[in-house]
Amino acid sequence: MACGCSTGWSPLITKAKGTGRGRRGGERRTSRRQTPAVDPRPLVVDIRSIGAGGDGVADDDGRPVYVPYTVPGDRVEVRPVASVAGGVRADILSFEAEGPHRVPPPCRHFGTCGGCALQHLDDTVYVDWKRGRVVEALARQGLGEVPVGAVVRSPASARRRATFAARRIGRDVVLGFNAAKSHLILDLAECPVLRPALVALLPSLRDLLRTMLEAMAAADVVVTETAAGVDLVFVMGREAGLDDRERLAGWAAENDVARVSWQGAEDVVEPIAARRPVTLSWGGADVAIPAGAFLQATAEGEAAIVERVLAATSEAARVADLYAGCGTIAFPLAASAKTVHAVEGEAGLVAAIERSAGAFSGRVSAEQRDLVARPLTVPELRRFDAVVFDPPRAGAAPQARMLAEAGVPTVVGVSCNPATFARDARTLVDSGYRLREVTPIDQFLWSPHVELVGVFSRDGS
Ligand SMILES: C[S@@+](CC[C@H](N)C(=O)[O-])C[C@H]1O[C@@H](n2cnc3c(N)ncnc32)[C@H](O)[C@@H]1O
Repeated sequence: MACGCSTGWSPLITKAKGTGRGRRGGERRTSRRQTPAVDPRPLVVDIRSIGAGGDGVADDDGRPVYVPYTVPGDRVEVRPVASVAGGVRADILSFEAEGPHRVPPPCRHFGTCGGCALQHLDDTVYVDWKRGRVVEALARQGLGEVPVGAVVRSPASARRRATFAARRIGRDVVLGFNAAKSHLILDLAECPVLRPALVALLPSLRDLLRTMLEAMAAADVVVTETAAGVDLVFVMGREAGLDDRERLAGWAAENDVARVSWQGAEDVVEPIAARRPVTLSWGGADVAIPAGAFLQATAEGEAAIVERVLAATSEAARVADLYAGCGTIAFPLAASAKTVHAVEGEAGLVAAIERSAGAFSGRVSAEQRDLVARPLTVPELRRFDAVVFDPPRAGAAPQARMLAEAGVPTVVGVSCNPATFARDARTLVDSGYRLREVTPIDQFLWSPHVELVGVFSRDGS
């Protein structure tokens, strides 16, 4: 028998207005991915844990059943819908009992929007789960003894950067995030995760896009809140016409945003209206941020990362910052280090560092380099007392192998992927490093993502 959900919230998914929109980043999907057929007969399962993707996990005769929006203790009737990772994913048909840690989600879109997976968990279980993701990733690499600290959290309404997806449907434009486990777009009306200034732009952006998108045409809009105002990149998949430029310039002025840029069919990002300089201050440097550049998702998360890196490297005179972005970590490092060498793959970001490095009288240098194809070599690494690396999700396997051989006294890893961090940590530990501590950092509230900072030193140092 189905019980009423005492939180007053039903996770049964009703589809958002359909758009058939492709992936974020301007790519279009042309075919649906085939998933192996599953037996769709309903099952009643008990949710025992939460899996890496944030779904509740039950056991059905030794086969894992992943049920989105459930909590441990839920007993649910479900319908299997797809084969996944040695088990099945199932949709909820009804609740028979409700687990003790279920809470009402703060957002009306929860259960439909693909942005959040965990708003229905009480805070204690949520934070334990995030920390547990880091502990488990380390344990899978035989690093289960490493001390893992408390999760450093970013509050609600703190995320300063997002990519909205848009599509013209008839006379309307749907604008928001991709719907959960779908390529449809959810037409976003509120978001308790994003900075309010980003949410406030949604209605006006919809009106603007209605004038720029033809029938069924799609676009992405990358929005970043900075101290100068909001910085937007319209990823349109076509070149900007004169009309587009005039409209965008007018819209930028009406909405008092800092900058509007256009990305066409190529990867080139062209400024259309640069109304105020878009700069961020790090360690005394005012860095002019290129449109669409990587930034840590929240100012609070960024501060926590920088604080831990500085604490671990305070004794180091010569420091390298690998995967440096715009210098978020490199410039603060220059407060205590004699020299800081920033290495980054994207030319525009290297140029941004170089423009601001002048104020440091040669103590901050920057180098453009692909650290996968050409990691810093052992002799190059041995010039440093400490090395910081902050790679994308794939991790830094080639660079970790060089670091392992070089034996730099202090290494600090910053990561958005505990699994690849743990793999790279294993490489360092096998060569004689000790992973002294790991701090989980939660910048992606209510999502399955968790970031971390890990500090390594040579045994005995
Ligand atoms: C996670 S971000 C970190 C940026 C910076 N540390 C920060 O905190 O803002 C990773 C950075 O690595 C750069 N990157 C990605 N692949 C790279 C590669 N193969 N070689 C060098 N840099 C790369 C990206 O452009 C990005 O700036």
